[in-house]
Amino acid sequence: MVDDNLSLRRAVLTGIGAYLPAQIVTNADMAARVETSDDWITERTGIKQRHFAAPHETAAFMGAEAGRQALQKAGLAPEALGAIIVGTSTPDQAFPSTAVHIQAALGAKNAFGFDLAAACSGFIYALSVADAMLRAGQVQSVLVIGSEVYSRILNFEDRTTCVLFGDGAGAVLLEAKSVTKDGPGVLSTHLHADGKLADILYVDGAVGQPDKSGHLVMHGREVFRHAVTLLAGAVNEALTENGLTAADIDLLVPHQANRRIIDGVGKKLGLPDERVIVTVDKHANTSAASIPLALAVAMEEGRAKPGQLVLLEALGGGLTWGSALLRL
Ligand code: UT7
Repeated sequence: MVDDNLSLRRAVLTGIGAYLPAQIVTNADMAARVETSDDWITERTGIKQRHFAAPHETAAFMGAEAGRQALQKAGLAPEALGAIIVGTSTPDQAFPSTAVHIQAALGAKNAFGFDLAAACSGFIYALSVADAMLRAGQVQSVLVIGSEVYSRILNFEDRTTCVLFGDGAGAVLLEAKSVTKDGPGVLSTHLHADGKLADILYVDGAVGQPDKSGHLVMHGREVFRHAVTLLAGAVNEALTENGLTAADIDLLVPHQANRRIIDGVGKKLGLPDERVIVTVDKHANTSAASIPLALAVAMEEGRAKPGQLVLLEALGGGLTWGSALLRL
């Protein structure tokens, strides 16, 4: 018999923050740049607009803005912060990490920090690492940030990819708390990767490969083909581990890559539209930033509320994919 009043150490979400660059680029703006149309982009992806960063809006700059808000919402002083984990594929520099720039910008002088590369799954991967560190007692608080400037790695001569992505940052503060079984906190995370599929979504180049262009390349149809099945699998793992059914989920906050993928997973779960958060229309695909940005919108709009069971899922380059279940 499990005693429901037993105290458990869990990673509890205590603050959230978001940052979007001021510059909005509509589908019509993209159509002026490449051979595309608002109709095509809307029908195939659900995207209507995206934000593109100005030169000063780097992953570190945007991540620090989102992180600062999360700390303020939680009422945690920067000096009290234990760690910063940044999910990003577009860091300011190969090293030092985006996380240390954010640490300096926030004045979080007692925090350590590092970047984590898992492409669009970066936020779920980072959340999972933070959850493990918090439950193990290594730290008391972790700022988990997704921050991306994909506009800097897009090939604006490739209409099949450049219309899909946008820039932005989202952050959540997780704090270790003693809670009861039905209390708040991260309940499970499930991570996956299949490196055999590395060549269907990648960036052609890095510091170690000076001859390459450094542009995003995606075989969209191939990624799409895997997405709904793998995501539904990761979601079912979360439900099974927690002895739940889809009907118990108050809110699905999926990675925002394509409205058709989001709807496909929602349909597989039998979730009504009002329980699925969609921001891809306004933000496009912001990779590791998309889930915390979507969660911030859901909270802002009062759709995500304390006590609710929230399911997160993502899939991206790697392939990498995973899910996380938490109670707010
Ligand atoms: O976040 C990481 C995970 N990424 C994803 O989940 C993305 C997964 N993939 C997708 O979302 C979709 O595959 C896309 C949105 C990328 C593409 O949608 P699709 O329905 O799979 O289209 P398609 O690639 O099969 O292309 C259909 C047609 C092609 O023309 P033909 O060959 O039928 O004549 C393309 O050349 O649409 C054409 N096309 C475009 N037309 C106008 C491709 N891009 C564009 C464009 N504007 N931007």
